[in-house]
Amino acid sequence: MVSKTIPVDQFDLTIFGATGDLAMRKILPGLFRRLRAGQFDENSRIIGASRTDYDSDGFRADVRAALEEHVDAEHLQEAQVETFLNCLHYVPVDIFKTKGWAELAALQRDDVVRAYYFSVGPSLFGEIARKLTANKMTNAATRVVVEKPFGRDLKSAQALNAELRECFDESQIYRIDHYLGKETVQNLMALRFGNIFFEPLWNSHYVDHVQITAAESLGVGGRGAYYDKSGAMRDMLQNHMMQLLCLTAMEPPNKFDANAVRDEKLKIIRALEPVAKSDIVRGQYAASGDDPSYVTDSENPDSNTESFLAMKVNIENWRWAGVPFYLRTGKRLRNRLTEIAVVFKDPPHSIFETQEDRRGNVLIIRLQPDEGMTMRVTIKEPGPGGMRLREVPLDMTFADVLGDTVTDAADAYERLIMDVIRGNQTLFMRGDEVEAAWAWVDPMLQGWVERKEKPKLYDQGGSGPDDALMLLHKDGRRWREISK
Ligand code: BG6
Repeated sequence: MVSKTIPVDQFDLTIFGATGDLAMRKILPGLFRRLRAGQFDENSRIIGASRTDYDSDGFRADVRAALEEHVDAEHLQEAQVETFLNCLHYVPVDIFKTKGWAELAALQRDDVVRAYYFSVGPSLFGEIARKLTANKMTNAATRVVVEKPFGRDLKSAQALNAELRECFDESQIYRIDHYLGKETVQNLMALRFGNIFFEPLWNSHYVDHVQITAAESLGVGGRGAYYDKSGAMRDMLQNHMMQLLCLTAMEPPNKFDANAVRDEKLKIIRALEPVAKSDIVRGQYAASGDDPSYVTDSENPDSNTESFLAMKVNIENWRWAGVPFYLRTGKRLRNRLTEIAVVFKDPPHSIFETQEDRRGNVLIIRLQPDEGMTMRVTIKEPGPGGMRLREVPLDMTFADVLGDTVTDAADAYERLIMDVIRGNQTLFMRGDEVEAAWAWVDPMLQGWVERKEKPKLYDQGGSGPDDALMLLHKDGRRWREISK
């Protein structure tokens, strides 16, 4: 079975920061895969813009090298590579001066979708938006795509929103959170709202708690300077994990439409209780053998930045009253694992003899690795010997069930870029959503700075600081293993 590809309209996509790491690693290889899949053809254009002083052929040569590095060799047929490279154009542009802007404006066509991807730091968003307007490069149908980090606190996010809204309507602004482009994240909505039997159980009557884990085995080496100014809160929790929390907890929207979905997510963010200091654990990985510590990787011996964060979050609404959501994310942990686990309550009365190690029903929605879902259920242990109960997984690894449709599926970035061309904002963050997330996160960030709080050291290859284990133990619960 091969995934269905619905072609998009012809487009001109201009990428600011086209020679940067994200463009070369994700955006351009992703676009190549979409061309290869037949989603667009040689009539669309991808226009690179950045400070680097070379011509379209120089850009094409660099993109070819990037494709060779980031696209599976078996998918690199020369004819398709050539077609893709022919879609590419390049203009050296100085964002703060006039250089390149007239040339860039001349390249834009009127009769195709026009999109601008700001793959640059947020400090440049406002200036690019103003230059696009001043050079008459925008119309009512123009779309702009902006990358995370969208600010570093509420004030800076408000300022960015204000700058963008001077030039564009909210319906033209696509704020990327690549987690929303992940297959399983969308599947979470299909699971919840396309089936009848989860919804009646999806509330405080039946759910004991929810665990959301985004664990990584890699450290911050190579991007330590950026990361040290962010930490796990700004890098992962305020955006990616917040989105997972919202999609798990939100009410059913009345339709699968951008504003209906985002209205429901916003209600969840606004219903988050402030988190008590005692319900937050921050960690920093220590050195381990030849593997450097966080402070070495970040080249900041005095760093108080967290590379691990765990917290207990409560949602103040009818559906979730009394159901904690435990969030955990960190670098240099045992494995790379991202999952949402909905842990259900035990049956109200057991007719069987109690078994100490029984842990009840759990629905696990796995984002990576091996996207899929598992439901842990209790059954009778087969064979004679009376009624002995055991837990077994009802496992659905998508690659096993759906075969090539999964392996062929677009990765998060390419799917989101195609949504930009289609003009579908459902999987993008709205300005008020981002601000609400910062408004909830800000007091925690400020508290750490005011208290000069030092993160707890933790061993590499484990599951974070011991205090994180205690966060659940003190509630009589335990984290799921960070295992593959
Ligand atoms: C990025 C963060 O947004 O997401 C990185 O800046 C993190 O620090 C990455 O490693 C995780 O994404 P994924 O898709 O690998 O889970």
